[in-house]
Amino acid sequence: MKNLKIDPERLWNDLMETAKIGGTPKGGICRLTLTDLDAEVRRWFKAQVEALGCTVTVDDMGTMFARRPGLRSDIPPIAMGSHLDTQPTGGKFDGALGVLAALEALRTLHRAGYETFAPIEVVNWTNEEGARFAPAMIASGVFAGVFSHDWACARTDRSGETFGDALEKIGFRGTERCGDHELSAFFEVHIEQGPYLEAEGKDIGVVTGVQAMRWYEVTITGQDTHAGTTPMPRRHDALLGAARMVEMANATARQFPSAVGTVGLLEVKPGSPNVVPGEVFFTVDMRDPDASLLDRMERTIAEAGDKIANDLGLQIALKNIWTQPAQPFNAECIAAVRAAAQASGYSTRDMISGAGHDAAYIARVAPASMIFVPCKDGISHNEAESSSKEQCAAGAQVLLEAVLDYDRRLAERLGGK
Ligand code: GLV
Ligand code: MN
Ligand code: MN
Repeated sequence: MKNLKIDPERLWNDLMETAKIGGTPKGGICRLTLTDLDAEVRRWFKAQVEALGCTVTVDDMGTMFARRPGLRSDIPPIAMGSHLDTQPTGGKFDGALGVLAALEALRTLHRAGYETFAPIEVVNWTNEEGARFAPAMIASGVFAGVFSHDWACARTDRSGETFGDALEKIGFRGTERCGDHELSAFFEVHIEQGPYLEAEGKDIGVVTGVQAMRWYEVTITGQDTHAGTTPMPRRHDALLGAARMVEMANATARQFPSAVGTVGLLEVKPGSPNVVPGEVFFTVDMRDPDASLLDRMERTIAEAGDKIANDLGLQIALKNIWTQPAQPFNAECIAAVRAAAQASGYSTRDMISGAGHDAAYIARVAPASMIFVPCKDGISHNEAESSSKEQCAAGAQVLLEAVLDYDRRLAERLGGK
């Protein structure tokens, strides 16, 4: 086999070029899903892959698949990719690295005239972040049959716009039914978003699975009253109830060494300095590799909520809107990643992902796994998020070799080449 090498410079240029689309003054990206900026980066991606002779199909959740033919067109493609949407204060690498490393792997195959056995695809999944439309990984979830298409399209952002309308508006509602797109395998490169690879001086994380996670929406209802005239004992202050719940969610997660718990969004109504808040909406994100622990955390928070509601004369509605079990990755894909990293001389560490990823849903319907690269100080979902050119290149090189390894395994199994 030829020794194909990805071009670190070309990958870095793509990262920096696309980072301008929604670029923030602090060096990050704000490119929320299904906005005009999302449409702009999608058009950029389409132009790049079409220049390589790929065919692009878009499904009815807006996910884009760029296909390079293989020797056997009757075999489902080996796919690689991630997402081009970001958090409101996102960095340059979360998601973008996975799509652009895949694009770079594709370019390397193209330039070398390398013919794979299976077709190869680069995928840009819609709304991985869940920052605008909850939950996260919504399109890959529909793809895997976890959510229905209609339910996903009816999700609203905080302004009340539906996912379906936003998708239509940016012109990326495709004709293929989401999920009608068989894959032989899926590989995703991502920055680790945590501190372990950097702390241990490892080049590549061989990701063996993704931890369990749950999202809740909480609405607390009290009473709007005058801030100057309502004596303290007469108040039903929804924000005070929320403050106690936030403290409680944090303390509950701290009871378990591997668990995390976060209140990341909070809205106070009516939002006036001289009105005691009558309504508060907030979200809770809880994660642990062991889902039974999340059951315990949920019970603790629900019981605390009942007590707080009773003490302050409030109504507290706690709604579970998303349950994602722990998801192990496919043994053969993991082996392909490990072999690829070792063949390139990179040091590795097996790890479970703390973050959610599209690969976790795709793993339900196709063999899948992930490749992590270190990021500076383990910081992510932050404009300061940073990985070096060499670290990004290592991820892309391992991706290319893992895909080719998997392609050879397929050829052996199915009697090709
Ligand atoms: C996805 O970005 C997550 O919340 O882990
Ligand atoms: Mn991501
Ligand atoms: Mn993210």
